[in-house]
Amino acid sequence: MYPITGERHESDHRIGGCSVRELVSTYGTPLYVVDEATLRYNCQQFTTTLRDHYPNATVAYASKAGLTVGIANIIASEQLGADVVSGGELYTILQSRVDPERVYFHGNNKSGSEIDLAIRHCVTIVVDNAHELAHIQAIATDLQQPARVLFRLNPGIDVHTHRYIKTGHGDSKFGLTVDEAIPLMQRVVAGDWAVLRGIHAHIGSQIMDEAPFQMVVRWLVATAATLIQVLNHPIDAINCGGGFGISYTAGDTAPNIPRIIHQMTETLKQSCAEHAIPLPRLIVEPGRSIIGNAGVTLYTIGAVKSVPQGSQYIFVDGGMADNPRFMMYQSAYTFDVISAEPSLQTGVFKIAGKFCESGDVLADGVTLPVPQPNDIMIVYGTGAYNYSMSSNYNRYCKPAMVLVNNGTSRVLVKRETYADIVRHDMP
Ligand code: LLP
Repeated sequence: MYPITGERHESDHRIGGCSVRELVSTYGTPLYVVDEATLRYNCQQFTTTLRDHYPNATVAYASKAGLTVGIANIIASEQLGADVVSGGELYTILQSRVDPERVYFHGNNKSGSEIDLAIRHCVTIVVDNAHELAHIQAIATDLQQPARVLFRLNPGIDVHTHRYIKTGHGDSKFGLTVDEAIPLMQRVVAGDWAVLRGIHAHIGSQIMDEAPFQMVVRWLVATAATLIQVLNHPIDAINCGGGFGISYTAGDTAPNIPRIIHQMTETLKQSCAEHAIPLPRLIVEPGRSIIGNAGVTLYTIGAVKSVPQGSQYIFVDGGMADNPRFMMYQSAYTFDVISAEPSLQTGVFKIAGKFCESGDVLADGVTLPVPQPNDIMIVYGTGAYNYSMSSNYNRYCKPAMVLVNNGTSRVLVKRETYADIVRHDMP
């Protein structure tokens, strides 16, 4: 869960060669910190394995995990594409150096203006339903510009992860069954201005087992073989989604990315041979496994308070608005206290934020050295789905984000101010 450049010393930690204490005094707290070396290393875990074993591949970073223009530029320089799920993510990507031809646009209810933006920029659209397909075909016809499409299929593969982040099971809102998709694909093949490129499936997120990833490859290849016959049309690309789990705490064992990706390419080659179909382009969409352990959050500790019922609270100057994941998914993280004079005494704490909500808790039952007010709290593994799910609840300002590398730091996102809070209000 630590960034690869992380160094944990008693009275200070370092990330990207920068002292955590200095980052706090320069930028304030709460602060998101992203380690460039870890981000690049994680990208290369995918790209080098694919280059060696299956070069006809695209790694499309699932930008919902954490996106800013600066992050997108790093991703682009590592030769990744991107998966986007909204006009806002697409717009951000278009402001960066990511090649739009390597961008995949997901979502179960895309608007006309989002579809229009995607088609104008040659972004591949992942079709979710019949209504959307009609919309895409109409807009592409109006623009007289081809819309490249993949179809999102529901493989019915159930995985062991939190029920809110499963997507490939029977009752998911995402995608189509193969039977539902076939007549729609026939409509694309028979019509003008939409071009069928392939199929997609994503089974869920934070998946720690390796087997489901092989199952999804086999399922997609078998489905592609059926579709090639039924449609009499090639399936050039199969997109296996993302979902590779990461370690958040010492007890977690995350899948090994080079091994799992290598296995997926072997399974792909073998399945294509069995079904006698040509090898397609392979697309994977990792989000969390690219940025999760590259990020940490820094807070300043306020009061340490015991309540009569027995809980001991540590209050930090952020909470559910910068990290809603404990509230939503009971997610575990690794916490450390950074103190000028570290205490030898430990306690078991509930870590709570400053938002006006009892559920504003980041962790429960964490053993830590007893902190003093103004000590720093560092939370590891917060790179994914923290900033991207943050809010302005209670009209607090969103934190700044800084990138660290080789002992230097630079701002990726400025800290919001009260003026930002009222920017869109009308008297
Ligand atoms: N591709 C598709 C179509 C997806 O829906 C997702 C995630 C991904 C790729 C990337 O999955 P990853 O590699 O990051 O696991 N907010 C939740 C996670 C929601 C994931 C939604 N889809 C969380 O904080 O855990």
